[in-house]
Amino acid sequence: MEKNKVIKAALLGVGTVGGGVYKLVKRQKEEFRHKIGTDLEIAKILVRDAAKERPGIDSELLTDNWQEILKDDSIEIVIEVMGGIEPARTYILEALRAGKNVVTANKDLLAEHGKELMDEAKEMDRDLLFEAAVAGGIPIIRPLKQCLAGNYITEVMGIVNGTTNFILSKMTYEGMDFEDALKIAQDLGYAEADPTADVEGYDAGRKIAIMASIAFNSRVTFSDVYTEGITKISALDIEYADNLDCVIKLLGVARHKEDGIEVLVHPMLISKKHPLASVDDSFNAVYVHGDAVGDTMFYGRGAGELPTASAVMGDVIDTARNIVYHCTGRIACSCYKDIPVKKVDDIKSKFFLRMVVSNTPGVLANIASVFGNNGVGLERVLQQKVEKEKAEIVVVTYPVEERHLRDSLRIFDGMSIIKNIPAIIRVYGE
Ligand code: NAP
Ligand code: HSE
Repeated sequence: MEKNKVIKAALLGVGTVGGGVYKLVKRQKEEFRHKIGTDLEIAKILVRDAAKERPGIDSELLTDNWQEILKDDSIEIVIEVMGGIEPARTYILEALRAGKNVVTANKDLLAEHGKELMDEAKEMDRDLLFEAAVAGGIPIIRPLKQCLAGNYITEVMGIVNGTTNFILSKMTYEGMDFEDALKIAQDLGYAEADPTADVEGYDAGRKIAIMASIAFNSRVTFSDVYTEGITKISALDIEYADNLDCVIKLLGVARHKEDGIEVLVHPMLISKKHPLASVDDSFNAVYVHGDAVGDTMFYGRGAGELPTASAVMGDVIDTARNIVYHCTGRIACSCYKDIPVKKVDDIKSKFFLRMVVSNTPGVLANIASVFGNNGVGLERVLQQKVEKEKAEIVVVTYPVEERHLRDSLRIFDGMSIIKNIPAIIRVYGE
Protein backbone atom coordinates (compact mmCIF):
# COMPACT_ATOMS: atom_id res chain seq x y z
CA MET A 1 0.00 0.00 0.00
CA GLU A 2 1.28 3.47 -0.91
CA LYS A 3 1.19 5.94 1.98
CA ASN A 4 0.91 9.76 1.79
CA LYS A 5 -0.46 9.65 -1.73
CA VAL A 6 -3.24 11.92 -3.00
CA ILE A 7 -5.50 10.31 -5.57
CA LYS A 8 -6.65 12.83 -8.13
CA ALA A 9 -9.87 12.45 -10.07
CA ALA A 10 -11.45 14.49 -12.85
CA LEU A 11 -15.17 14.93 -13.34
CA LEU A 12 -16.49 14.95 -16.89
CA GLY A 13 -19.71 16.91 -16.33
CA VAL A 14 -21.04 18.65 -13.26
CA GLY A 15 -24.80 18.56 -13.83
CA THR A 16 -27.24 16.62 -11.60
CA VAL A 17 -24.96 13.62 -10.92
CA GLY A 18 -21.58 15.37 -11.20
CA GLY A 19 -22.81 18.09 -8.83
CA GLY A 20 -23.77 15.39 -6.31
CA VAL A 21 -20.36 13.69 -6.62
CA TYR A 22 -18.59 17.03 -6.10
CA LYS A 23 -20.67 17.66 -2.94
CA LEU A 24 -19.92 14.20 -1.51
CA VAL A 25 -16.17 14.49 -2.13
CA LYS A 26 -16.17 17.85 -0.31
CA ARG A 27 -18.35 16.89 2.64
CA GLN A 28 -16.86 13.41 3.25
CA LYS A 29 -13.20 14.35 2.74
CA GLU A 30 -12.08 13.09 6.17
CA GLU A 31 -14.18 9.92 5.97
CA PHE A 32 -12.85 9.09 2.52
CA ARG A 33 -9.25 9.50 3.73
CA HIS A 34 -9.88 6.73 6.26
CA LYS A 35 -11.86 4.55 3.91
CA ILE A 36 -9.28 4.72 1.11
CA GLY A 37 -6.10 5.23 3.09
CA THR A 38 -5.16 8.37 1.12
CA ASP A 39 -6.71 11.73 0.25
CA LEU A 40 -9.08 11.94 -2.70
CA GLU A 41 -9.34 15.16 -4.65
CA ILE A 42 -11.32 16.44 -7.63
CA ALA A 43 -8.53 18.07 -9.64
CA LYS A 44 -10.42 19.16 -12.78
CA ILE A 45 -13.96 19.38 -14.10
CA LEU A 46 -14.82 19.23 -17.79
CA VAL A 47 -17.93 21.14 -18.92
CA ARG A 48 -19.29 22.51 -22.18
CA ASP A 49 -19.35 26.08 -20.93
CA ALA A 50 -16.53 26.89 -18.49
CA ALA A 51 -17.64 30.54 -18.16
CA LYS A 52 -21.10 29.63 -16.77
CA GLU A 53 -21.83 30.58 -13.11
CA ARG A 54 -21.95 27.36 -11.03
CA PRO A 55 -22.78 28.10 -7.39
CA GLY A 56 -20.79 25.95 -4.94
CA ILE A 57 -18.27 24.76 -7.57
CA ASP A 58 -14.67 26.02 -7.49
CA SER A 59 -14.44 27.83 -10.86
CA GLU A 60 -10.63 27.28 -10.93
CA LEU A 61 -11.28 23.58 -11.60
CA LEU A 62 -13.46 24.12 -14.65
CA THR A 63 -12.21 23.52 -18.16
CA ASP A 64 -13.80 22.98 -21.56
CA ASN A 65 -10.63 21.32 -22.87
CA TRP A 66 -10.53 17.50 -22.57
CA GLN A 67 -6.82 17.42 -23.46
CA GLU A 68 -6.02 19.22 -20.18
CA ILE A 69 -7.37 16.19 -18.30
CA LEU A 70 -6.11 13.52 -20.68
CA LYS A 71 -2.54 14.87 -20.67
CA ASP A 72 -2.42 15.34 -16.89
CA ASP A 73 -0.68 12.18 -15.66
CA SER A 74 -1.45 12.99 -12.04
CA ILE A 75 -5.16 12.33 -12.71
CA GLU A 76 -5.74 8.60 -12.15
CA ILE A 77 -9.55 8.42 -12.15
CA VAL A 78 -11.91 9.88 -14.74
CA ILE A 79 -15.54 10.12 -13.58
CA GLU A 80 -17.71 10.34 -16.69
CA VAL A 81 -21.09 11.86 -15.78
CA MET A 82 -21.79 13.91 -18.88
CA GLY A 83 -23.96 11.35 -20.70
CA GLY A 84 -24.56 10.60 -24.40
CA ILE A 85 -22.56 8.40 -26.75
CA GLU A 86 -20.04 10.85 -28.21
CA PRO A 87 -17.74 12.35 -27.12
CA ALA A 88 -18.15 10.22 -23.93
CA ARG A 89 -17.10 7.00 -25.75
CA THR A 90 -13.95 8.54 -27.21
CA TYR A 91 -12.98 10.22 -23.93
CA ILE A 92 -13.37 6.95 -21.97
CA LEU A 93 -11.32 4.98 -24.52
CA GLU A 94 -8.62 7.67 -24.54
CA ALA A 95 -8.57 7.82 -20.74
CA LEU A 96 -8.14 4.02 -20.48
CA ARG A 97 -5.41 4.02 -23.15
CA ALA A 98 -3.65 6.74 -21.17
CA GLY A 99 -3.64 4.41 -18.14
CA LYS A 100 -6.45 6.13 -16.23
CA ASN A 101 -9.28 4.30 -14.46
CA VAL A 102 -12.87 5.16 -15.34
CA VAL A 103 -16.11 5.37 -13.37
CA THR A 104 -19.22 6.08 -15.42
CA ALA A 105 -22.99 6.42 -14.93
CA ASN A 106 -23.62 6.27 -18.68
CA LYS A 107 -26.03 3.41 -19.43
CA ASP A 108 -26.70 4.63 -22.99
CA LEU A 109 -23.04 4.13 -23.79
CA LEU A 110 -22.57 0.84 -21.90
CA ALA A 111 -25.68 -0.76 -23.38
CA GLU A 112 -24.31 -0.20 -26.91
CA HIS A 113 -20.52 -0.08 -26.60
CA GLY A 114 -19.94 -1.96 -23.34
CA LYS A 115 -17.81 -4.68 -24.94
CA GLU A 116 -15.46 -2.23 -26.66
CA LEU A 117 -14.95 -0.27 -23.42
CA MET A 118 -14.50 -3.37 -21.24
CA ASP A 119 -12.02 -4.88 -23.70
CA GLU A 120 -9.95 -1.70 -23.54
CA ALA A 121 -10.07 -1.68 -19.73
CA LYS A 122 -8.94 -5.33 -19.66
CA GLU A 123 -6.14 -4.67 -22.14
CA MET A 124 -4.89 -1.81 -19.95
CA ASP A 125 -5.51 -3.56 -16.59
CA ARG A 126 -7.60 -0.63 -15.44
CA ASP A 127 -10.93 -0.35 -13.61
CA LEU A 128 -14.07 0.51 -15.56
CA LEU A 129 -16.89 0.62 -12.99
CA PHE A 130 -20.50 1.61 -13.60
CA GLU A 131 -22.70 0.92 -10.55
CA ALA A 132 -24.71 4.15 -11.12
CA ALA A 133 -25.65 3.17 -14.68
CA VAL A 134 -28.41 0.85 -13.43
CA ALA A 135 -31.04 1.78 -10.84
CA GLY A 136 -29.25 4.90 -9.55
CA GLY A 137 -28.40 4.52 -5.87
CA ILE A 138 -29.31 0.82 -5.59
CA PRO A 139 -26.32 -1.52 -5.44
CA ILE A 140 -27.03 -4.06 -8.20
CA ILE A 141 -24.02 -4.31 -10.55
CA ARG A 142 -21.62 -5.24 -7.76
CA PRO A 143 -24.07 -7.75 -6.20
CA LEU A 144 -24.57 -9.41 -9.61
CA LYS A 145 -20.84 -9.50 -10.42
CA GLN A 146 -19.51 -10.33 -6.99
CA CYS A 147 -21.90 -11.21 -4.16
CA LEU A 148 -24.06 -13.51 -6.34
CA ALA A 149 -21.17 -14.89 -8.43
CA GLY A 150 -21.74 -18.33 -6.89
CA ASN A 151 -25.18 -18.59 -8.49
CA TYR A 152 -26.64 -19.61 -11.80
CA ILE A 153 -28.99 -16.66 -12.30
CA THR A 154 -32.20 -17.35 -14.22
CA GLU A 155 -34.20 -14.14 -13.80
CA VAL A 156 -33.66 -10.41 -13.27
CA MET A 157 -36.77 -8.28 -13.22
CA GLY A 158 -37.45 -4.83 -11.95
CA ILE A 159 -38.67 -1.29 -11.93
CA VAL A 160 -35.57 0.48 -13.20
CA ASN A 161 -36.82 3.84 -14.40
CA GLY A 162 -37.66 6.42 -11.75
CA THR A 163 -39.41 8.86 -14.10
CA THR A 164 -42.01 6.37 -15.39
CA ASN A 165 -42.58 4.88 -11.95
CA PHE A 166 -43.15 8.40 -10.62
CA ILE A 167 -45.61 9.19 -13.45
CA LEU A 168 -47.54 5.91 -13.05
CA SER A 169 -47.70 6.40 -9.26
CA LYS A 170 -49.08 9.95 -9.67
CA MET A 171 -51.63 8.73 -12.25
CA THR A 172 -52.67 5.79 -10.05
CA TYR A 173 -52.89 7.39 -6.62
CA GLU A 174 -53.53 11.10 -7.36
CA GLY A 175 -55.38 10.92 -10.68
CA MET A 176 -52.74 13.24 -12.15
CA ASP A 177 -52.38 13.71 -15.93
CA PHE A 178 -49.38 12.13 -17.65
CA GLU A 179 -47.97 15.51 -18.78
CA ASP A 180 -48.22 17.14 -15.31
CA ALA A 181 -46.52 14.18 -13.64
CA LEU A 182 -43.73 14.18 -16.27
CA LYS A 183 -43.11 17.91 -15.69
CA ILE A 184 -42.61 17.29 -11.93
CA ALA A 185 -40.24 14.36 -12.64
CA GLN A 186 -38.21 16.65 -14.92
CA ASP A 187 -38.08 19.41 -12.28
CA LEU A 188 -36.84 16.87 -9.71
CA GLY A 189 -33.95 15.86 -12.02
CA TYR A 190 -35.16 12.26 -12.54
CA ALA A 191 -35.86 12.48 -16.26
CA GLU A 192 -33.24 12.29 -19.01
CA ALA A 193 -32.49 15.47 -21.00
CA ASP A 194 -34.90 14.09 -23.62
CA PRO A 195 -37.64 12.29 -21.62
CA THR A 196 -38.56 10.16 -24.66
CA ALA A 197 -35.94 7.68 -23.44
CA ASP A 198 -37.78 7.39 -20.13
CA VAL A 199 -41.39 7.28 -21.27
CA GLU A 200 -40.78 4.99 -24.28
CA GLY A 201 -38.87 2.46 -22.14
CA TYR A 202 -35.47 2.98 -23.83
CA ASP A 203 -33.75 4.00 -20.58
CA ALA A 204 -35.10 0.90 -18.81
CA GLY A 205 -34.14 -1.14 -21.91
CA ARG A 206 -30.52 -0.03 -21.61
CA LYS A 207 -30.46 -0.92 -17.92
CA ILE A 208 -32.00 -4.38 -18.42
CA ALA A 209 -29.49 -5.05 -21.27
CA ILE A 210 -26.60 -4.25 -18.90
CA MET A 211 -28.05 -6.40 -16.09
CA ALA A 212 -28.86 -9.32 -18.41
CA SER A 213 -25.29 -9.32 -19.77
CA ILE A 214 -23.84 -9.56 -16.28
CA ALA A 215 -26.45 -11.94 -14.84
CA PHE A 216 -26.32 -14.45 -17.72
CA ASN A 217 -22.61 -13.96 -18.64
CA SER A 218 -23.59 -13.33 -22.26
CA ARG A 219 -23.56 -9.98 -24.09
CA VAL A 220 -27.01 -8.40 -24.50
CA THR A 221 -27.14 -4.99 -26.16
CA PHE A 222 -29.93 -2.44 -26.20
CA SER A 223 -30.85 -3.41 -29.77
CA ASP A 224 -31.70 -6.94 -28.47
CA VAL A 225 -34.31 -5.57 -26.06
CA TYR A 226 -37.98 -5.38 -27.03
CA THR A 227 -39.32 -2.09 -25.61
CA GLU A 228 -42.75 -0.63 -25.06
CA GLY A 229 -43.29 2.58 -23.08
CA ILE A 230 -46.09 4.02 -20.99
CA THR A 231 -47.41 6.78 -23.28
CA LYS A 232 -50.52 4.77 -24.21
CA ILE A 233 -51.49 3.88 -20.62
CA SER A 234 -54.76 5.66 -19.78
CA ALA A 235 -56.67 6.37 -16.58
CA LEU A 236 -59.19 3.78 -17.80
CA ASP A 237 -56.53 1.03 -17.97
CA ILE A 238 -55.41 1.93 -14.45
CA GLU A 239 -59.05 1.69 -13.31
CA TYR A 240 -59.53 -1.74 -14.95
CA ALA A 241 -56.23 -2.92 -13.43
CA ASP A 242 -57.55 -1.84 -10.03
CA ASN A 243 -60.73 -3.88 -10.63
CA LEU A 244 -58.49 -6.88 -11.30
CA ASP A 245 -56.64 -6.18 -8.01
CA CYS A 246 -53.54 -5.11 -9.93
CA VAL A 247 -51.43 -2.00 -10.55
CA ILE A 248 -49.62 -1.08 -13.77
CA LYS A 249 -45.83 -0.79 -13.63
CA LEU A 250 -43.14 -0.39 -16.30
CA LEU A 251 -40.99 -3.49 -15.85
CA GLY A 252 -37.69 -4.61 -17.30
CA VAL A 253 -37.64 -8.40 -17.52
CA ALA A 254 -34.73 -10.69 -18.39
CA ARG A 255 -34.97 -14.48 -18.18
CA HIS A 256 -32.52 -17.20 -19.04
CA LYS A 257 -34.62 -20.00 -20.55
CA GLU A 258 -33.46 -23.28 -22.06
CA ASP A 259 -33.91 -21.94 -25.61
CA GLY A 260 -32.30 -18.53 -25.03
CA ILE A 261 -32.52 -15.19 -23.27
CA GLU A 262 -35.80 -13.27 -23.05
CA VAL A 263 -35.29 -9.56 -22.55
CA LEU A 264 -38.11 -7.03 -22.64
CA VAL A 265 -39.34 -3.73 -21.21
CA HIS A 266 -43.07 -3.09 -21.12
CA PRO A 267 -45.91 -1.92 -18.89
CA MET A 268 -47.36 -4.82 -16.91
CA LEU A 269 -50.38 -5.50 -14.72
CA ILE A 270 -49.00 -6.88 -11.50
CA SER A 271 -50.96 -8.17 -8.50
CA LYS A 272 -51.18 -5.70 -5.60
CA LYS A 273 -49.82 -8.51 -3.43
CA HIS A 274 -46.52 -8.67 -5.36
CA PRO A 275 -43.66 -6.79 -3.60
CA LEU A 276 -42.97 -4.76 -6.79
CA ALA A 277 -46.54 -3.38 -6.71
CA SER A 278 -45.73 -1.23 -3.69
CA VAL A 279 -42.54 0.24 -5.18
CA ASP A 280 -43.80 3.76 -5.88
CA ASP A 281 -42.71 7.28 -6.85
CA SER A 282 -39.12 7.47 -8.12
CA PHE A 283 -38.12 4.34 -6.21
CA ASN A 284 -36.66 1.41 -8.14
CA ALA A 285 -36.45 -2.25 -7.23
CA VAL A 286 -34.72 -5.21 -8.84
CA TYR A 287 -35.63 -8.86 -8.29
CA VAL A 288 -32.94 -11.46 -8.91
CA HIS A 289 -33.44 -15.23 -8.85
CA GLY A 290 -30.36 -17.41 -8.41
CA ASP A 291 -30.26 -21.21 -8.10
CA ALA A 292 -28.49 -21.08 -4.76
CA VAL A 293 -29.81 -17.90 -3.14
CA GLY A 294 -33.42 -18.15 -4.38
CA ASP A 295 -35.24 -14.80 -4.61
CA THR A 296 -33.54 -11.53 -3.65
CA MET A 297 -34.80 -7.99 -4.02
CA PHE A 298 -32.85 -4.71 -4.09
CA TYR A 299 -34.78 -1.51 -3.40
CA GLY A 300 -33.99 2.20 -3.25
CA ARG A 301 -33.77 5.50 -5.09
CA GLY A 302 -33.19 4.93 -8.78
CA ALA A 303 -32.43 8.49 -9.81
CA GLY A 304 -31.60 11.98 -8.56
CA GLU A 305 -28.52 13.90 -7.49
CA LEU A 306 -27.27 12.30 -4.27
CA PRO A 307 -28.63 8.74 -4.68
CA THR A 308 -26.84 8.47 -8.02
CA ALA A 309 -23.73 10.20 -6.64
CA SER A 310 -23.75 7.61 -3.84
CA ALA A 311 -23.32 4.82 -6.41
CA VAL A 312 -20.66 6.75 -8.32
CA MET A 313 -18.69 7.38 -5.13
CA GLY A 314 -18.83 3.68 -4.18
CA ASP A 315 -17.05 2.96 -7.48
CA VAL A 316 -14.59 5.85 -7.06
CA ILE A 317 -13.63 4.63 -3.58
CA ASP A 318 -13.26 1.05 -4.83
CA THR A 319 -11.05 2.23 -7.68
CA ALA A 320 -8.99 4.40 -5.33
CA ARG A 321 -8.45 1.40 -3.04
CA ASN A 322 -7.40 -0.70 -6.03
CA ILE A 323 -4.93 2.04 -7.04
CA VAL A 324 -3.50 2.08 -3.52
CA TYR A 325 -3.07 -1.71 -3.57
CA HIS A 326 -1.88 -1.84 -7.22
CA CYS A 327 -4.70 -4.15 -8.26
CA THR A 328 -6.84 -2.23 -10.75
CA GLY A 329 -8.56 -4.25 -13.48
CA ARG A 330 -9.39 -7.11 -11.09
CA ILE A 331 -12.99 -7.47 -12.18
CA ALA A 332 -13.22 -7.48 -15.96
CA CYS A 333 -15.98 -8.31 -18.43
CA SER A 334 -17.82 -11.50 -17.42
CA CYS A 335 -19.50 -12.30 -20.77
CA TYR A 336 -17.85 -15.63 -21.52
CA LYS A 337 -20.95 -17.26 -23.10
CA ASP A 338 -22.81 -16.56 -26.33
CA ILE A 339 -26.49 -17.30 -25.67
CA PRO A 340 -29.06 -16.35 -28.36
CA VAL A 341 -31.69 -13.72 -27.55
CA LYS A 342 -35.23 -14.91 -28.30
CA LYS A 343 -37.61 -13.06 -30.63
CA VAL A 344 -40.55 -11.43 -28.86
CA ASP A 345 -42.97 -13.52 -30.99
CA ASP A 346 -41.68 -16.66 -29.26
CA ILE A 347 -42.04 -15.33 -25.70
CA LYS A 348 -44.99 -16.47 -23.59
CA SER A 349 -47.05 -13.90 -21.61
CA LYS A 350 -50.52 -13.33 -20.28
CA PHE A 351 -52.24 -10.36 -21.91
CA PHE A 352 -54.89 -7.82 -20.88
CA LEU A 353 -56.85 -6.48 -23.87
CA ARG A 354 -59.38 -3.63 -23.73
CA MET A 355 -61.58 -3.88 -26.82
CA VAL A 356 -64.25 -1.49 -28.07
CA VAL A 357 -66.82 -3.55 -29.98
CA SER A 358 -70.31 -3.27 -31.53
CA ASN A 359 -73.03 -3.76 -28.96
CA THR A 360 -74.73 -6.57 -30.90
CA PRO A 361 -75.63 -10.15 -29.97
CA GLY A 362 -72.95 -12.76 -30.61
CA VAL A 363 -69.93 -10.40 -30.43
CA LEU A 364 -68.46 -12.05 -27.38
CA ALA A 365 -68.85 -15.51 -28.96
CA ASN A 366 -67.13 -14.30 -32.14
CA ILE A 367 -64.21 -12.87 -30.16
CA ALA A 368 -63.86 -16.04 -28.09
CA SER A 369 -63.87 -18.17 -31.23
CA VAL A 370 -61.08 -16.12 -32.92
CA PHE A 371 -58.95 -16.42 -29.81
CA GLY A 372 -59.78 -20.14 -29.51
CA ASN A 373 -58.93 -20.87 -33.16
CA ASN A 374 -55.51 -19.26 -32.63
CA GLY A 375 -54.70 -21.13 -29.46
CA VAL A 376 -55.32 -18.20 -27.10
CA GLY A 377 -57.15 -19.25 -23.92
CA LEU A 378 -59.16 -16.72 -21.91
CA GLU A 379 -58.76 -16.55 -18.14
CA ARG A 380 -61.05 -13.53 -17.45
CA VAL A 381 -63.69 -11.65 -19.44
CA LEU A 382 -65.27 -8.39 -18.21
CA GLN A 383 -67.84 -6.21 -19.87
CA GLN A 384 -68.23 -3.02 -17.92
CA LYS A 385 -69.00 -0.03 -20.09
CA VAL A 386 -71.91 -0.36 -22.47
CA GLU A 387 -73.38 2.39 -24.65
CA LYS A 388 -76.26 2.08 -27.11
CA GLU A 389 -74.00 1.27 -30.08
CA LYS A 390 -70.75 0.19 -28.44
CA ALA A 391 -69.53 -2.02 -25.61
CA GLU A 392 -66.15 -2.30 -23.95
CA ILE A 393 -64.86 -5.79 -23.36
CA VAL A 394 -61.79 -6.57 -21.30
CA VAL A 395 -60.14 -9.97 -21.56
CA VAL A 396 -57.18 -11.50 -19.76
CA THR A 397 -55.57 -14.40 -21.61
CA TYR A 398 -53.74 -17.43 -20.28
CA PRO A 399 -49.99 -17.41 -21.02
CA VAL A 400 -49.53 -17.61 -24.78
CA GLU A 401 -46.69 -17.17 -27.24
CA GLU A 402 -46.96 -13.64 -28.56
CA ARG A 403 -47.26 -14.72 -32.22
CA HIS A 404 -50.61 -16.43 -31.44
CA LEU A 405 -51.93 -13.19 -29.98
CA ARG A 406 -50.73 -11.27 -33.05
CA ASP A 407 -52.45 -13.81 -35.36
CA SER A 408 -55.72 -13.14 -33.49
CA LEU A 409 -55.20 -9.36 -33.77
CA ARG A 410 -54.72 -9.64 -37.54
CA ILE A 411 -58.13 -11.33 -37.79
CA PHE A 412 -59.77 -8.74 -35.50
CA ASP A 413 -58.40 -6.06 -37.84
CA GLY A 414 -60.70 -7.26 -40.61
CA MET A 415 -63.83 -7.64 -38.43
CA SER A 416 -66.31 -4.73 -38.50
CA ILE A 417 -67.68 -5.61 -35.04
CA ILE A 418 -64.28 -4.76 -33.51
CA LYS A 419 -64.09 -0.94 -33.47
CA ASN A 420 -60.81 -0.45 -31.69
CA ILE A 421 -58.37 -2.15 -29.29
CA PRO A 422 -56.99 0.78 -27.24
CA ALA A 423 -54.94 -1.30 -24.79
CA ILE A 424 -52.88 -4.50 -24.95
CA ILE A 425 -50.83 -4.87 -21.76
CA ARG A 426 -48.92 -7.87 -20.46
CA VAL A 427 -49.98 -9.40 -17.14
CA TYR A 428 -47.56 -10.86 -14.59
CA GLY A 429 -48.00 -14.50 -13.70
CA GLU A 430 -48.19 -18.02 -14.99
P1 NAP B 1 -26.85 16.71 -16.77
O1 NAP B 1 -27.49 17.24 -15.53
O2 NAP B 1 -27.43 17.08 -18.08
O3 NAP B 1 -25.32 17.14 -16.73
C1 NAP B 1 -24.44 16.91 -17.81
C2 NAP B 1 -23.11 17.60 -17.51
O4 NAP B 1 -22.18 17.18 -18.50
C3 NAP B 1 -23.16 19.12 -17.59
O5 NAP B 1 -22.31 19.69 -16.62
C4 NAP B 1 -22.61 19.41 -19.01
O6 NAP B 1 -21.90 20.64 -19.11
C5 NAP B 1 -21.64 18.28 -19.17
N1 NAP B 1 -21.47 17.93 -20.59
C6 NAP B 1 -22.40 17.38 -21.41
N2 NAP B 1 -21.89 17.18 -22.64
C7 NAP B 1 -20.62 17.62 -22.59
C8 NAP B 1 -19.57 17.70 -23.54
N3 NAP B 1 -19.74 17.29 -24.80
N4 NAP B 1 -18.37 18.22 -23.15
C9 NAP B 1 -18.19 18.65 -21.89
N5 NAP B 1 -19.16 18.60 -20.92
C10 NAP B 1 -20.35 18.09 -21.29
O7 NAP B 1 -26.82 15.11 -16.75
P2 NAP B 1 -27.03 14.15 -15.47
O8 NAP B 1 -28.49 13.99 -15.19
O9 NAP B 1 -26.12 14.53 -14.39
O10 NAP B 1 -26.61 12.73 -16.11
C11 NAP B 1 -25.25 12.42 -16.32
C12 NAP B 1 -25.12 10.92 -16.63
O11 NAP B 1 -25.56 10.16 -15.53
C13 NAP B 1 -25.91 10.44 -17.83
O12 NAP B 1 -25.21 9.42 -18.48
C14 NAP B 1 -27.17 9.86 -17.19
O13 NAP B 1 -27.82 8.90 -17.98
C15 NAP B 1 -26.58 9.25 -15.95
N6 NAP B 1 -27.50 9.06 -14.84
C16 NAP B 1 -28.26 10.10 -14.42
C17 NAP B 1 -29.12 9.92 -13.35
C18 NAP B 1 -29.99 11.03 -12.83
O14 NAP B 1 -30.75 10.78 -11.90
N7 NAP B 1 -29.91 12.23 -13.38
C19 NAP B 1 -29.17 8.66 -12.69
C20 NAP B 1 -28.34 7.61 -13.15
C21 NAP B 1 -27.51 7.82 -14.23
P3 NAP B 1 -22.64 22.08 -19.03
O15 NAP B 1 -23.03 22.19 -17.60
O16 NAP B 1 -21.60 23.06 -19.43
O17 NAP B 1 -23.79 21.96 -19.97
N1 HSE C 1 -34.00 9.01 -16.17
C1 HSE C 1 -33.60 7.97 -15.32
C2 HSE C 1 -34.78 7.51 -14.47
C3 HSE C 1 -32.47 8.41 -14.44
O1 HSE C 1 -35.81 8.20 -14.48
O2 HSE C 1 -34.71 6.48 -13.84
C4 HSE C 1 -31.75 7.29 -13.80
O3 HSE C 1 -31.10 6.50 -14.73
